[in-house]
Amino acid sequence: MKEWVAISQDLSLGHVTVVIVGGTGDLARKYLWQGFFQLYADQVGKGHTFSFYGGALSTTEKGTPLLFDILKELACPAELSVERCALVKDQFLHLSKYHQLKTTEDYENLSQQIKQQLGQEGIIEAGRLFYLSVPAFAYADIAEKINNTCRPPSEAWLRVVLEKPFGHNLYSAQALDKKLSGQLKEEEMYRIDHYLGKQVVSKILPFRKENKKLLDPIWNKHHIERIEIVLKETLDAKGRIQFYDQYGVIRDVLQNHLTEVMTLMLMNLPANLSNSEEILQNKLNFLASLQHVDNSNAVVGQYQAYNGEVQEELNKTKDYFSLTPTFAGVVIHVDNAQYEGIPIFMTSGKALDERVSYARVLFKSNVFCVQDPNNVQCKSKQIIFYLGHGTLQYPAILLSKNLFKPELVSSGDWKEVTEYKDVNVLGLQLSDYYIQSPVTPREAYCELISHVFFGRKDSFISAEGLLASWEFWTPLLEGLSRVFPRVYPGGVDNGNLLNFQLKGHQVAFSHEALVNVINPGAEDNFQVMQGKYRSSEMVSAWAQELVERLASDLLLAAEEAIREEGQFHLALSGGSSPVALLRALALNLYTFPWRNTHIWQVDERCVPHTESGSNFRSIHDLLLQHIRIPYFNIHPMPVHLTQRLCVEEDGGPTLYEKEIKKHVNGSSFHYILLGVGQDGHTASLFQDTKLENDEENLVILTESPNKPHQRMSLTFTAINRARRVGVLIMGKSKHELVSQLSRIKGESSKYPITKVQPKSGTLIWYIDYDALLG
Ligand code: BG6
Repeated sequence: MKEWVAISQDLSLGHVTVVIVGGTGDLARKYLWQGFFQLYADQVGKGHTFSFYGGALSTTEKGTPLLFDILKELACPAELSVERCALVKDQFLHLSKYHQLKTTEDYENLSQQIKQQLGQEGIIEAGRLFYLSVPAFAYADIAEKINNTCRPPSEAWLRVVLEKPFGHNLYSAQALDKKLSGQLKEEEMYRIDHYLGKQVVSKILPFRKENKKLLDPIWNKHHIERIEIVLKETLDAKGRIQFYDQYGVIRDVLQNHLTEVMTLMLMNLPANLSNSEEILQNKLNFLASLQHVDNSNAVVGQYQAYNGEVQEELNKTKDYFSLTPTFAGVVIHVDNAQYEGIPIFMTSGKALDERVSYARVLFKSNVFCVQDPNNVQCKSKQIIFYLGHGTLQYPAILLSKNLFKPELVSSGDWKEVTEYKDVNVLGLQLSDYYIQSPVTPREAYCELISHVFFGRKDSFISAEGLLASWEFWTPLLEGLSRVFPRVYPGGVDNGNLLNFQLKGHQVAFSHEALVNVINPGAEDNFQVMQGKYRSSEMVSAWAQELVERLASDLLLAAEEAIREEGQFHLALSGGSSPVALLRALALNLYTFPWRNTHIWQVDERCVPHTESGSNFRSIHDLLLQHIRIPYFNIHPMPVHLTQRLCVEEDGGPTLYEKEIKKHVNGSSFHYILLGVGQDGHTASLFQDTKLENDEENLVILTESPNKPHQRMSLTFTAINRARRVGVLIMGKSKHELVSQLSRIKGESSKYPITKVQPKSGTLIWYIDYDALLG
């Protein structure tokens, strides 16, 4: 390795050996080698010499090509010219080597090699940096081997970098700490939290310091309304379930990344930002001031495909269910005079609608804007530490212009952004913010690798800080270990399912879970399947789950309609199929927007509404009597006029039609729920129903082959005008029909249901497994 000498003009600073244990693994390939290459490019010619080892369990023959495949792909640092980069990369490749690291002898051998080469070249040693990119269970053993065989001479430093997870809870973190501290000194351990290497995160304290004068008066409970610390991801945990299922979202990101961000935002500002000890002490004081959190302060969810991934990746049987949350929302309160009462919402999840991470401080507004809502005074006042992705796409610190113009955090490597893309960031247009952003974006790992090199311990997690964070999170984790997470479909389909809200100092999901949560007694009933039936969408599940899913879809449809038109018009069928659905809807008496919902009938039997055979009577008994819905929103079919039942001259259908036209925009119901009889009839439209006037009429009188024969029904014209039509088919007795219908293409006069073909709306079949599979 003669190149050690060649690259350095000044050898006085000594030689640094870098060893990446797990050097051919995923993290090393993605980030670490790039980080060390950047370090080398930054430092070459500045007095240190380097050598780099990639270590792993494989033999040298196997490992060497793997390592060089990774190194070949290294990207050039932005600041280097192409020629310079080619030269530096060539040197870097020469200085890098694979070394098998499995047994104690392998480590001894490595140490020997380092010593020998240093001796031969007559170079003094500055230090050895071991980066452990291996599963946490291997830490203690490797630390022991390093301690026993690879310590540099006393004048040189030893730094060992460790990746999370650092334990699973307070007790295992303490145990791990005990084992490691038996081998390595605290100052030798660099526990990485890559969030601390994110450019915006590392500028939180400097930003607060630079703007102290203006922030001090408002950085408190009198001015801050709420704080949000958010890491949303679109990715799922597929491919890393081995790890993820033991940890879940709280251990994976809340306990570490998001807690660090919160701490930097709210800890007391140290007088001296380069005083690691003062920073650590202030962090510890802050963590100690957090109020205890338990289950009532958190909501958890699990994306729907997760359990299948667990069964597959962990080789579990179909009846295995994981309770590991992939989503969590937590509210945290601080118990001190400055911040008491401010809710801190911390949330993260996999399989959400977008990838974004930020921390925002929203300030109270004391202005009442009577007019001119676009006036700067009327807009929200907020400070956002925007870590990246999302609508903005780059890391930045944003301040509402109606707060104050901030000082630039550090003039050399940060700039003020004055070009405003036309995007909205957390409720405000970009032009409503003062924005500052790093001049050159840098990967967190690159930053942290350089901080290890410079021994900047304040960018790393101390043992005390780690244990303090675990102490805060462990009781909640213990409490949640028995909680069934709410299952969410993933992506935009999550809709409002994961929204949660504050109730006093606690939180709860804003909407009832109508989509199935894992039900302990009926695990194998759990899967909801989506597919196609008769060229339309089909949802299938066991009865209970199917009904819950349908109720949940109805809720989403209701919310959408109310958002757009202020009202939701829902037409319900009679018969046995909707019974379970009506029960499920009645259970959601508080969360369903009944006030703005109008209930119509799809069909009715010509019997008084008070009789048990009446469809209205069953809608009343199962649903209406349990909910608070305005009387004027209930529209029973007028089958009983002038003390007679369904007499042509009484004009019942015309009356109902008029009522529909009066209330329902374009006579287009937002949702029509249908069932199907075993003979293929739907609503009260039978095989022999005469439909001559069906083109014009929305409501007609019909004859059923079954008693009571006389019926009133919406027509296909009315049905096919609806925005959404759901057809619910349940029970083994419908299996034959379901198979028949699947074979019929298009319409068949034998099966009236085939004439349900919404013109511009959507049709969804809800078929339970009994009906589908027989
Ligand atoms: C890691 C977690 O620590 O952080 C991952 O293990 C998560 O599950 C990642 O995806 C998020 O980091 P970033 O930098 O993409 O926000």
